[in-house]
Amino acid sequence: MRREELESLKEEIFRLKEEKNAIILAHNYQREEVQDIADFIGDSLELSRTAATKPCDVIVFCGVHFMAESASILSPQKTVLLPEIDATCPMADMIEVRSTRKVWKTFPGYDTQPSFVFPHEYTLMDMKNQYPEAPVVSYVNTTADVKAESYICCTSANVVQVIESLDVDTVICVPDRNLSMWAQKHTKKKIITWDGFCHVHDRITIKDVIKARSLHPNALFMAHPECRIEVLEAADHVTSTSGMLRYAKASSAKEFIVGTETGLIHRLKKENPDKVFYPLRKDMICPNMKKTTLKSVLNALKKMEFVIKVPEQIRVPAKEALDRMLKIK
Ligand code: 13P
Ligand code: SF4
Repeated sequence: MRREELESLKEEIFRLKEEKNAIILAHNYQREEVQDIADFIGDSLELSRTAATKPCDVIVFCGVHFMAESASILSPQKTVLLPEIDATCPMADMIEVRSTRKVWKTFPGYDTQPSFVFPHEYTLMDMKNQYPEAPVVSYVNTTADVKAESYICCTSANVVQVIESLDVDTVICVPDRNLSMWAQKHTKKKIITWDGFCHVHDRITIKDVIKARSLHPNALFMAHPECRIEVLEAADHVTSTSGMLRYAKASSAKEFIVGTETGLIHRLKKENPDKVFYPLRKDMICPNMKKTTLKSVLNALKKMEFVIKVPEQIRVPAKEALDRMLKIK
């Protein structure tokens, strides 16, 4: 895009933002140019919390579907817009509350790769029926339907605290098997997990870590808990995207290997101009997070689409699960 074209696009976005009394929120994995026009950048929970406290009428959520849903759950009186309606999270979509279809589910755009085909022979209700005493802890990367059937939510940053806060011996933790395994290492409670995963993080192997460490021997390695357990065990620090931002800033080290979606590197570099950041693997890119462009943000504000509104019968119990977590941290 030419410089003048880019500038006029931004001007139009800012003009419409004022006119509609909107704020633009962008997840840490968004495209650089989208992050640069956002009012707030952060992880999904930080963004939803921010949205709930800001006096605006419209929230343009540059992220994926479950994030816009969380914003709608916490701010029902505001209009929440997701600029790209197909921006979904394959991991969030791996678990359903109930299903009459005992079929193999494929994810559009990914069905050529076997790891993206997941058997949906079970549902969350099957798990709940099998372990009726175990409360459901759902990662924020879940649909509103799943949150509504959960006792409490968690994030990658507070999963252990959330599990420890519950006065039970066994919990159901969905949908990420890697996050569950990471939590299991840090709690004596029994965790029943779903077999879901994030394709961006789960594809990383220990070989990738060994290679990156040999290329950058002075760098500290930060990993997101959506990575496999052997990758996490080889990390210097395991944390959420916002945790990585805090860790890199506070550390006296000058070089870091970043074990998460490469979009975070834009902010890491901006906030730490004297430090160097290497992606663990250059292809750690979430296609859904990259769907949103400046043009789609402009379109969202112009046409007021796509509105994400969680129905009250789902929103109220989903909010209870989110609120229980928010009380903890
Ligand atoms: P956090 O930004 O909460 O660490 O989440 C990572 C992620 O995968 C969001 O989709
Ligand atoms: Fe979902 Fe992974 Fe993409 Fe996050 S990075 S939106 S968890 S697929």
